[in-house]
Amino acid sequence: MKILVTGGLGFIGSHTVVELQNEGFEVIIIDDCSNSSEDVLDGITTITGQTPLYEKIDLKEKDKVEDFFKRHQDVQGVIHFAASKAVGESVEEPLLYYENNIGTLVYILKELAQKNKASFIFSSSCTVYGQADEMPITENAPVKVAESPYGNTKQMGEEIIADTCKVTPSLNAIALRYFNPMGAHPSIEIGELPTGVPQNLVPFITQTGMGMRAELSVFGDDYPTLDGTAVRDYIYVVDLAKAHVIALKRLLESKNDDNYEVFNVGTGTGSSVLEVIQSFEKVSGEKLNYKIVARRAGDITSAYADTTKANTVLGWKSEYNLDQAMKSAWEWEQKIRK
Ligand code: UD1
Repeated sequence: MKILVTGGLGFIGSHTVVELQNEGFEVIIIDDCSNSSEDVLDGITTITGQTPLYEKIDLKEKDKVEDFFKRHQDVQGVIHFAASKAVGESVEEPLLYYENNIGTLVYILKELAQKNKASFIFSSSCTVYGQADEMPITENAPVKVAESPYGNTKQMGEEIIADTCKVTPSLNAIALRYFNPMGAHPSIEIGELPTGVPQNLVPFITQTGMGMRAELSVFGDDYPTLDGTAVRDYIYVVDLAKAHVIALKRLLESKNDDNYEVFNVGTGTGSSVLEVIQSFEKVSGEKLNYKIVARRAGDITSAYADTTKANTVLGWKSEYNLDQAMKSAWEWEQKIRK
């Protein structure tokens, strides 16, 4: 069964390609390499013994998208990762984000809506909840006004899919709302490859551990949390990748309750920034240089998932804890800096 993975050379995409291949799916990747590298294909091949099909396509080129689906009419499912994800950049260049993240989504849905049956998995984010009123966050928590154009593209993306599913019974879709992905494949053949200075906590920590950054700035220690630093739900990337395969199978096997469904993908455990630093120090045996600075604009206090729906309805559960995920992130960082 042929599955298209857009953005399949990226961080979460590449780990999902591996899990799909492990489950016997034939994978075709579309990536424009704007934030990824074709070298990732070698890592995937080393892990699974199979090289996925790959086409370098910019999904903003509508005629190329149409042409792709004409040539690959046997594609039965799409996992759509391809998107821009830098929050700060999205504030500076909103139209770039609306074009990249919304335009491309519409083109793909247009193609899928013409099929007799199609399955679609969308990369959404816990960012849609903003600062939720209650922890842990269930899927029923209200979607809050987005803090950034990036966050808005995730909210709008969900709405576009829901609206399309309403009038397209042949289209079945699941939006996965990721909490904070981290880590690398246990083989250490693929992992996160941030370009420039990492905006996310874990790659910033591992780069600081390697001496590439002088010190980590901890954004705020005056939050109303146990130790004053902000709390997030760090989910191991391989666990997250597996959630995609389970969600896809749910649709392919017509086990879904509705033709549009939403699931949180997190561990259910919140960790503070200082706890993440402690985890790094524990698994690496290194002391991390850090200083407390002011809060980062737009950051929320706390976000961790209620995973009941994913556990019971989807039948998925995270397996790795923070230390295990951190160990893989650290091993990966050491490998790529060699
Ligand atoms: C960020 C995005 C979010 C996106 C998610 C995907 C922002 C505001 N939000 O979430 O929209 O869906 O990534 O991975 O960028 N921290 C530090 N020092 C650092 C970096 C981070 O203290 O150098 C803190 C942050 O303040 C936060 C936590 O670490 O409390 C996690 O930060 P980060 O990895 O950037 O993720 P989010 O902000 O949760």
